[in-house]
Amino acid sequence: MTEPDIKKGLAGVYVDYTAVSKVNPETNSLLYRGYPVQELAATQPFEAVAYLLWHGELPTDVQLAQLRALERSYRHLPADVRAAIDLVPLDAHPMDEVRTAVSLIGARDLAGTGSVLEISGSAEENLARSIRLFAVLPAIVAFGQRRRRGLQPVAPRDDLDYSANFLWMTFAEEADPVVVDAFNRSMILYGEHSFNASTFTARVIASTLSDLYSAVVGAIGALKGPLHGGANEAVLHIFDEIGTAENVSAWLDEALAEKRKIMGFGHRVYKRGDSRVPTMKAALDTLVEHYDRPDVAALYDTLESEFVARKGIYPNLDYPSGPTYNLIGFDTLTFTPLFVASRITGWTAHIMEQLASNALIRPLAAYNGHDERHIEGYEPDE
Ligand code: ACO
Repeated sequence: MTEPDIKKGLAGVYVDYTAVSKVNPETNSLLYRGYPVQELAATQPFEAVAYLLWHGELPTDVQLAQLRALERSYRHLPADVRAAIDLVPLDAHPMDEVRTAVSLIGARDLAGTGSVLEISGSAEENLARSIRLFAVLPAIVAFGQRRRRGLQPVAPRDDLDYSANFLWMTFAEEADPVVVDAFNRSMILYGEHSFNASTFTARVIASTLSDLYSAVVGAIGALKGPLHGGANEAVLHIFDEIGTAENVSAWLDEALAEKRKIMGFGHRVYKRGDSRVPTMKAALDTLVEHYDRPDVAALYDTLESEFVARKGIYPNLDYPSGPTYNLIGFDTLTFTPLFVASRITGWTAHIMEQLASNALIRPLAAYNGHDERHIEGYEPDE
């Protein structure tokens, strides 16, 4: 028998087509439905990009207004979801709150469905489910941060759009437009990235004709890991460890001697730089100026230049987004939940795409375990 060609981690393997986004490491570009992500980040509200990912086209003014009206109608944190979040231990990771909340929302929405044959839902039902999750996740994430600080949830404001309202619900004060713009850009940049680990997880679950909520819960689990979404949080831990730009060299000597992975650097697909980094870095620069924090820029630039010079490994999106969220005032533990609030758009677009031309995802494994053997004394029945 010929040896199967195993691609560990599915590296370099194409498993399906997608029309949602195109990652091109050769040209260092990322397109959402054909549009370069940096153009979207510079010109669009996140709601319009969500619409684009779901429908394939940017919304007209009327379509955007309709989506915004729906989003506003689902912004409130339902009482039972709040109660469920309160059951999660305060010292659990907030991703556990988000996962629990989405699971409950799904159970409530699908209650009475009866047979598993009906749960995967029609295209219309899944779009409605996607919009509901997109709209309620900010309330879940904002409440998570507030509860860890011993604060009550803040009711959403109908006069604010998605990003401004998200910041309002988190900090109970109206954010400066510069801050809203940086946050909106981060939401757009995190929104979609082809067959990354969490999106692929969601597609695997959807491919069994399970329901959209189950697929999202699985994706949240995949995103929590530090090799994926958890890295934006890990970047801040590294910044805290290093302290100031002057300490970078000594810190790097030690970290590399210990063969540590430097979080926020490296990417499975981009080997010459992540296409989203320049846009996010520009937003970080704006905030460095806004908050007058040149120390943050100095640490960022020094670590980047020293690490790139030594290893030739470039920053990924998590590198500039970590300090950006920190400057805005988000707790480090809230960073990965913010990623969920954004990536819900890409996940759900992919779940709907998977269902539109479904094939159960079920790869093969080459067995390398024990040779066939038998239980001593076992006699097969006649
Ligand atoms: N720090 C130090 N060394 C690294 C790093 C890093 N961040 N990234 C890669 N390397 C090294 C590896 O140690 C390995 O070296 P070796 O060949 O001497 O063993 C080599 O580069 C190849 O690395 P792999 O991990 O095999 O490459 P892969 O494509 O599987 O990794 C990954 C991609 C997992 C993202 C990796 O770069 C990493 O762990 N980075 C840190 C975590 C991170 O930032 N994740 C965020 C991903 S992007 C996102 O989710 C928005």
